[in-house]
Amino acid sequence: MGEANRQRLIRVRDLSDAALADLFIRARRYRDEFAGDGGGPREWRERLAGRLIVNLFYENSTRTRVSFEVAAKRLGADVVNISAAGTSVAKGESLIDTVRTIEAMRPDVIVLRHGNAGAPELIAPHTQAAVLNAGDGARGHPTQGFLDVLTMQAALKHDRLDGVTVAIVGDVVHSRVARSTMAVLARLGATVRLVGPRCFVPEPFAAPGVEVVHDLEAGVRGVDIVIMLRMQLERHSGVRFGSENEYHSRFGMNLRRLDAWAPKAFVMHPGPVNRGVELANDVMNDPRCLIQQQVENGIFIRMAALDMLVNGCNA
Ligand code: CP
Repeated sequence: MGEANRQRLIRVRDLSDAALADLFIRARRYRDEFAGDGGGPREWRERLAGRLIVNLFYENSTRTRVSFEVAAKRLGADVVNISAAGTSVAKGESLIDTVRTIEAMRPDVIVLRHGNAGAPELIAPHTQAAVLNAGDGARGHPTQGFLDVLTMQAALKHDRLDGVTVAIVGDVVHSRVARSTMAVLARLGATVRLVGPRCFVPEPFAAPGVEVVHDLEAGVRGVDIVIMLRMQLERHSGVRFGSENEYHSRFGMNLRRLDAWAPKAFVMHPGPVNRGVELANDVMNDPRCLIQQQVENGIFIRMAALDMLVNGCNA
């Protein structure tokens, strides 16, 4: 077993306020310099030269896995992608034995996605590499929270979010994205409304700065940002809403509702989207929909996170 590893980004709270500010500063700098052709200044393209980033994904992913790969490559790192299917994991190798095998190849960062909450803490004592949580069960997905907030800041044109109200609509109880994005929003002073049926948004989610609302119109009326969540069918065990059509008619967002209840609001979604369930096509085609910007900002946030873990924080 290697020594306990101190470089980790597993929960939003692993970053101090100063480190969080540093992360956003770096991500904006990368966005300014790498947007467009993705080139960027030479010294930044070599920030992670000679470093090995291992993306270890036990759950399906498009956005997160690809953007970690793009982020690492833009900074000059070597990248290895491992998914459970197609490796010795499929022959029964345990998570820890897999990490011990990877450890022998001297990685600098292990980016882990796993279906079980706490998996990143489980592997951390078994590697000298930094551990970065790319989603663990329904508990956390910190880089998604950071990229969501970076996207809001750009759309709203201010960095502090005091006075900003964000509605998070849908399957909150099963959503690691909701938990991480709420944690970042709380740090920046935003007010949150959690909106959905009682089975997805139980009362105990209410907290200082967090209101629970069970009616879509009341929940989104007048807000600045609406984040629509996917129904996490793979995590439902006995908690169901009924049919997808019924869900869409009560909690789905369409252009008519957006125009009537929150016409100035921007609409976000972490993806993947169930079209016609949480979001209608007309909203996805509207300029207020920021889904593409979220994906693009994911690259800059992940560049910043990898850079901070490998090269240290300026805070
Ligand atoms: N938002 C998100 O985590 O998407 P993926 O599951 O495609 O990575």
